[in-house]
Amino acid sequence: MAFSAFSLCLVALAVVLLLVRRWPWCSCHVCRAYLTGSWSKDFTNLGDWYAHLLRESPTGTVHVHVLGCTVTANPANVEYMLKTNFDNFPKGKTFAALLGDLLGGGIFNVDGDAWRHQRKMASLELGSVAVRSYAFKIIAQEVESRLMPLLAGAADAGEVVDLQDVFRRFAFDTICKISFGLDPGCLEKEMPMSKLADAFDTATRLCAMRGAAASPLLWKMKRLLNVGSERELRNAIKLVDELAAAMIRERRKLGVANSHDLLSRFMASAGDVDVDDKYLRDIVVSFLLAGRDTVSSALTTLFMLLSKNPAVAAAMRAETAGDEGSTPVITYEHLKGLHYTHAVLYENMRMFPPVQFDSKFCAAADVLPDGTYVSGGARVMYHPYAMGRMPSIWGADHGVFRPERWLTGAGGTFVPESLYRYPVFQAGLRVCLGKELAITEMKAVAVAVVRAFDVEVVGESGSAACAPKFVSGLTASVSGGLPVRIRRARNN
Ligand code: HEM
Repeated sequence: MAFSAFSLCLVALAVVLLLVRRWPWCSCHVCRAYLTGSWSKDFTNLGDWYAHLLRESPTGTVHVHVLGCTVTANPANVEYMLKTNFDNFPKGKTFAALLGDLLGGGIFNVDGDAWRHQRKMASLELGSVAVRSYAFKIIAQEVESRLMPLLAGAADAGEVVDLQDVFRRFAFDTICKISFGLDPGCLEKEMPMSKLADAFDTATRLCAMRGAAASPLLWKMKRLLNVGSERELRNAIKLVDELAAAMIRERRKLGVANSHDLLSRFMASAGDVDVDDKYLRDIVVSFLLAGRDTVSSALTTLFMLLSKNPAVAAAMRAETAGDEGSTPVITYEHLKGLHYTHAVLYENMRMFPPVQFDSKFCAAADVLPDGTYVSGGARVMYHPYAMGRMPSIWGADHGVFRPERWLTGAGGTFVPESLYRYPVFQAGLRVCLGKELAITEMKAVAVAVVRAFDVEVVGESGSAACAPKFVSGLTASVSGGLPVRIRRARNN
């Protein structure tokens, strides 16, 4: 009884502090629409509303005063934050606190020297030929031995499957094998629930919920009291910790000399230095987070777009077909030469970036290149989802799925856009370390599936006019999943 009364007092105190901090609430039209939720009358997703506001703004930047946040879609500002004045825009303690219990001191969640050290080590390993060819082998195996048989089974049975769920399982198996050398087997025929996948899902969902709370005080109080979602989060992280510890112990027993998974490489590169298990756990858990939901999110929206644009799927199929109807084996080199498919992947992520926005913390007061003043300690968010919808970057047809916009090189070859105009993989000093790996993985899946099957999204989300609704979280996922019907392609 006394404990409940104490908890109630603390929560009441948190609410009072929150009101004091935000009082008086800003009454500008942006803050009103945000606070009352009235934006949702006209827009499907918060990101669509931000895109609208940013298009209307002469600088491509707006303030949401009640959040203490500046939101920008201006490429000059993005370049300034991510490269020119990088040191003044760290992730900051607020972000680190949201994910800190799950990610610890892993690369994703740290700034300064701790980040620099891990970045150097991780980019050496991910750039090495041995790790790249190991990763490609894993991807090819997972596609051939699990993904394709599963889809073929669904095609023959005429079943509707949730392709988003299939891709999440595929991406989790793949990234676990690449990171730990461990196979959780989530994409086995009977679709088992993996304890690690389940705990990881719960932990990332609840960390994202922390970010959506009106004030950090609320979740911090719940954590202190170990109640509700914070209790659930603690239990999920405990399970992730136990499973990661078991994998690290196993790897130490087996030895690392001839293994090319990232955990083994990090252990081997430490040489004689006795790296502790917590350090290894933190790095590898960061990789799981970075490499799982991002890839499955991009594959989900890709097949949603292909279902609505069958001419694009047909052009991809034509590009991957061999001479005189032969079916070339998918090799790394073969994938690299597929410019049209490459453009399709980039165009998909322009419209539906897996990481829709990214926040930085402005350490000391600063002025962005478009003249926006940002006070010290404020949040600045750049918004890839909105940036993909800016006529100032993509022209008047920004709403059209048109892979050809990327094929402006000699002979119709792919030409990349500046990453500051297309920060889907972030850009500058902290650009994604798994970009090449992710593109290879997505291409391998896209080519194999498009060659063998016609994929049709069913239900409401299949209609051409229906825009996807995303669930808020660290990575974009489509609300309700992606129900599809699969048929063998006519030439199969
Ligand atoms: C479509 C797939 C992917 C997308 C769109 C993507 C996007 C991003 C973005 C936006 C960031 C910056 C996040 C932040 O700092 O807040 C990032 C960082 C990172 N990504 Fe990716 N990523 C993808 C796949 C992968 C994969 C497969 C891996 C690993 C194998 C990976 C490894 C990393 C790492 C290690 C970082 C941290 C870099 C640093 O902080 O220095 N990513 N990624």
